Amino acid sequence: MPRLDTQVGIVGAGPAGLMLSHLLAREGIDSVVLDARARETIENTVRAGVLEDHVAQLLRDTGVGERMDREGATHHGIELRFAGRGHRIDFGELTGRTITLYGQNQVVKDLNAARVAAGGRIVWEAEVLEVAGAETDTPRLRFSVDGAAEELACDVVAGCDGYWGPSRQAIPAERRREFERHYPFAWFGLLVEAPRYSHELIYALHERGFALVSTRSPEIQRLYFQCDPADSADDWPEDRIWDELRARLSTTDGGTLPEGRILEKAVLGMRSFVCEPMQHGRLYLAGDAAHIVPPTGAKGMNLAIADVRVLARGLVELFGSGSTTLLDGYTDICLRRVWKAQRFSWWMTSMLHRFGDDPFQLALQHAELDYIAGSRAAATALAENYVGLPLELPAAELRA
Ligand code: PHB
Repeated sequence: MPRLDTQVGIVGAGPAGLMLSHLLAREGIDSVVLDARARETIENTVRAGVLEDHVAQLLRDTGVGERMDREGATHHGIELRFAGRGHRIDFGELTGRTITLYGQNQVVKDLNAARVAAGGRIVWEAEVLEVAGAETDTPRLRFSVDGAAEELACDVVAGCDGYWGPSRQAIPAERRREFERHYPFAWFGLLVEAPRYSHELIYALHERGFALVSTRSPEIQRLYFQCDPADSADDWPEDRIWDELRARLSTTDGGTLPEGRILEKAVLGMRSFVCEPMQHGRLYLAGDAAHIVPPTGAKGMNLAIADVRVLARGLVELFGSGSTTLLDGYTDICLRRVWKAQRFSWWMTSMLHRFGDDPFQLALQHAELDYIAGSRAAATALAENYVGLPLELPAAELRA
């Protein structure tokens, strides 16, 4: 059986796995990234689109931010829309910080290009079947390429393979605690060729449910609305989609949503999930392999990047001095941030969606939104979470 060797075997070529490989390479640490999917599939799948400022800065600081700075957009706030009126939350004024709109798949393209140009090893269409020996000094990834069995021997494994990947299953069930919450609704996501409706994202609560206006470029818009999780994309012909979006986004002072050609439509499930711990022996989980947030807080990719930032620092220490001080704290450091992001994502989700048709709950949601619109303290609480809480690494470890 052919064997590859590396210091860090990375399962998953999404943002977490690629960013980890990129950060490690800059420190002279070798890695191999394996992913079951084809490169084109990952690069062309539309996912999240909001980068916290520290994530955008990390891309710049490590030489992969050029296209983001050219094609992405800096946003200084968001709009909360309810009861027919919009209320701006000014991130700049409240926190002095911004967010960047740039698609996750674009981040993946830029990281792939950088890794390939640097001679990095990424094996696409390589399905990892088993993470073996996590409790030993030589964990191994068993994988198959074109039906042939192969093995990667490593010092450490990073499981960046998402919720459905095999890495988390390598933590024995009795050593793992999983926390989960399901929501009684889904998002209908659209990619549309149309001019921009708004300069900033709009999060709207309407009697008929939630709607979100986001963007990818001046020509391509990303729209979402709350739907039934049992719906399929075919249940929503174009006219019905536009009627629903217009109704949910309607304001007393007018403004019309520009319609356009729908390039993509899909129903997206919503859940909150956390696996504790995030480490077992020499296996470290990062990103969706360890935690899922509902998308209302725009935190998924940001959390994944924060995880691998912590992991990269720990691995630099391990391969540099042999010390495991930082790595031993990996779960604790990451989970403090993860749970705060869970809380924020759950809170945004609860405030902005219809839960059944309970009028009392809707009145409370309106009161909460009205409170945020009228209170600098409440608006700041939203803003500082949205732009991203600080990375809780010891100060000396925060250099890129
Ligand atoms: C997106 O642009 O895809 C997006 C923006 C904000 C969210 C979720 C998704 O909360």
